Amino acid sequence: MKLIDRFRVNLILATDNKFGISREGVIPWNISEDMQFFRTKTSAKPPGHINVLIVGRKTWEQMGSPIEMSNGRKIIVMTLHPERIENPGVMAARTKEEIADILLRFTETINCIWVCGGKEIYKMFMSSGDFNNIYWNKIESDFGCDNRVFLVESVFETDSSEFVVDKKTGKIVELIYYRMPEP
Ligand SMILES: NC(=O)c1ccc[n+]([C@@H]2O[C@H](COP(=O)([O-])OP(=O)(O)OC[C@H]3O[C@@H](n4cnc5c(N)ncnc54)[C@H](OP(=O)(O)O)[C@@H]3O)[C@@H](O)[C@H]2O)c1
Repeated sequence: MKLIDRFRVNLILATDNKFGISREGVIPWNISEDMQFFRTKTSAKPPGHINVLIVGRKTWEQMGSPIEMSNGRKIIVMTLHPERIENPGVMAARTKEEIADILLRFTETINCIWVCGGKEIYKMFMSSGDFNNIYWNKIESDFGCDNRVFLVESVFETDSSEFVVDKKTGKIVELIYYRMPEP
């Protein structure tokens, strides 16, 4: 069962230059431009539509306020223990089949599904080829991550790049915006 048979599915992630997404359970950088990119991409939709964000339970716990996730975005948290997700603002799913069931229950028109990690969730969609595109922001610095997602750089094209400040370390780093070419 593939979600791309019915919906547009995009993955979105930021890594350091060793494909790291987190260190000791947290993202070891704080780059406003990257966060703004995430917000803009996952919120963009035509009037009367919604976007759905799929996240692993640990990522969800770090996403902070549900208010942050308003603006026409709905969240599905992947967990083996849906009964532990007590937030009424989100839905929980154990499998991709359960995600599909939830999506079919929405009465609003779904514009796009955004797969927002972490590692196992990206892997689930990548390994089955169940995505239309991957938006990958690469930070050209080594943050010593212990949680990595492997990507084949040659299949991406560069959208743009800029030098930005990482507020956690105060370092200036290059941020490269990649995505896959589409037919
Ligand atoms: N740099 C980035 O772009 C980026 C993106 C996303 C996340 N992150 C960061 O990465 C860290 C967390 O990532 P993570 O990879 O450790 O964890 P995660 O994927 O966010 O969450 C792991 C949890 O998801 C659930 N899960 C995983 N695979 C599942 C499956 N096949 N079926 C059902 N449930 C499943 C399980 O929840 P239960 O234990 O409840 O069963 C598992 O413990 C955080 O620091 C987060 O901020 C970074």
